[in-house]
Amino acid sequence: MSFQKPSLLIFLFFIVKINSNAEENFDVRQHLCTVTRYHVAKDISENSFVPSNINDQCTPIHLNLVARHGTRAPTKKKLKQLEALSTRLQFLLQNVEEEKKSLHNIPAWLSGWKSPWKGKHKGGELISEGEAEMYELGIRIREKFPELFKEEYHPDIYPIKTTQISRASASAVAFGMGLFSGRGNLGLGRHRAFAVTSESRASDIMLRFHDCCQNYKAFRKSQEPFVDKLNKPLLNEIAQELAKRWSLNFTTQDISSLWFLCKQEASLLNTTDRACALFSPSQVDLLEWADDLELFILKGYGNSLNYRMGVPLLEDVIQSMEKAINAREGLVPGSYEMARLRFAHAETLLPFSCLIGLFLDGSEFELILREHPLQLPPKPPQKRIWHGSTVAPFAGNNMLVLYSCPDNNSSKYFVQVLHNEHPIRLPGCENSDVCPFEVFKERIAAPHLKHDYTALCNMESDQTEQTASRFLLTGYSLSKITSYTTVVGAICTLFLAYLFIAFVKF
Ligand SMILES: *[C@@H]1O[C@H](CO)[C@@H](O)[C@H](O)[C@H]1NC(C)=O
Ligand SMILES: *[C@@H]1O[C@H](CO)[C@@H](O)[C@H](O)[C@H]1NC(C)=O
Ligand SMILES: *[C@@H]1O[C@H](CO)[C@@H](O)[C@H](O)[C@H]1NC(C)=O
Ligand SMILES: *[C@@H]1O[C@H](CO)[C@@H](O)[C@H](O)[C@H]1NC(C)=O
Repeated sequence: MSFQKPSLLIFLFFIVKINSNAEENFDVRQHLCTVTRYHVAKDISENSFVPSNINDQCTPIHLNLVARHGTRAPTKKKLKQLEALSTRLQFLLQNVEEEKKSLHNIPAWLSGWKSPWKGKHKGGELISEGEAEMYELGIRIREKFPELFKEEYHPDIYPIKTTQISRASASAVAFGMGLFSGRGNLGLGRHRAFAVTSESRASDIMLRFHDCCQNYKAFRKSQEPFVDKLNKPLLNEIAQELAKRWSLNFTTQDISSLWFLCKQEASLLNTTDRACALFSPSQVDLLEWADDLELFILKGYGNSLNYRMGVPLLEDVIQSMEKAINAREGLVPGSYEMARLRFAHAETLLPFSCLIGLFLDGSEFELILREHPLQLPPKPPQKRIWHGSTVAPFAGNNMLVLYSCPDNNSSKYFVQVLHNEHPIRLPGCENSDVCPFEVFKERIAAPHLKHDYTALCNMESDQTEQTASRFLLTGYSLSKITSYTTVVGAICTLFLAYLFIAFVKF
């Protein structure tokens, strides 16, 4: 028993060591939720998952890609928010000066700060960093699957689909330029032309299903006050901490604008020593969690409609694989599609990830199948799987690679799922990244495919109310929700007082 003490000491030493390393290695660029850059997200180390070995006798025969657009400029609405922040910061600094308090405590960049995007009137477009992300992704995919991309280009062999939103279609073009570079006769890069097709925005139920789904729009709207209430106490706490630390009277609105600025600076300008430096690592952890929570509730597992409305996309993916199998078995002569490449949005990628059951643990997959709600991702320092930075960074993507394994006794076709180019566990397929096609179809896809888009989206439903009350029941204290009865009571009292005064006067 004499070894127990030293081992305990060593153990404690390790804990301390790990913790101090965590502080030292803290890089805010890995905590930016959906504003995280792809090269950062891709390298966030996966847990201890060991991908399957795919037998040498298996060959990839088809690939489905669902990608989010690359890094984009802030949208017009957000540009305005930053301009407002500039005015607000000057106002706060002025107050400090008027109170004759010293400014030396306050970060120098704050005085006279102007939005880096001041004077820019249009927003939301793919920026050059985003182009590079997509272009390089195209090159890497071709290198990784030479068997799939050796064919001469034809739009039916490599259909490229995008939404009508320019950052998505520009992403598709940048990707295609990488994928087909050196294969054509245009310019020094020997580029070639290729087709990129879109459905009309008003009816794109394959890639912009959220925009055509009335029930989803109603749900989102109904959840806004709920999400705000969820975030408010946390923003308030941070506002007070920051107000104390920097002697500036920050409001929760200021904190949310400064956090937004931090994300934009860190992601687009690679600047982490300004707005981001106002926050401590643990404050960043909390702000990131608040973003992740919102993403979960509005676009992820928080509500089944969020992902069910993606059934047309899932159906398209399964059909494309079945067609590839039939073509291979000679059932459909002349049909040689090798890859179906899709470029869209976080609102497309996230639901798709949910439909194939990514980022769940085993028991949660069962809950989803039985239509039971999931717990919200827990507050740090508790660990969670659901991180916006990895589930939907800029250029985030899922690839479903169909393999033919003629010599395999258990199945002839397998699906491998890659998330951000790395094999990922499928809780619906015994936590393997490689799933027999039949199992993938029956166990993962079929439970969703029995639903119908039109019915889900356009029928009268009481789904929204159900969800709101459901969250309230999961034990999240929403701090003080102003009591409706108190307000009513106060109004009545005032009215009586008025009557009383009127009566006395009379
Ligand atoms: C093929 O079958 C064997 C056993 O039947 C299995 O171990 C292997 O993982 C299978 N899958 C692939 C993709 O090779
Ligand atoms: C801070 O701002 C609030 C309202 O925004 C105001 O009521 C309060 O007096 C201010 N405090 C200081 C110290 O300026
Ligand atoms: C971003 O900044 C870090 C230092 O903080 C540097 O190592 C890295 O090369 C920069 N990245 C780019 C793309 O400029
Ligand atoms: C597959 O089945 C055949 C005969 O049915 C057998 O000879 C072979 O060893 C099996 N292969 C594997 C990998 O189990």
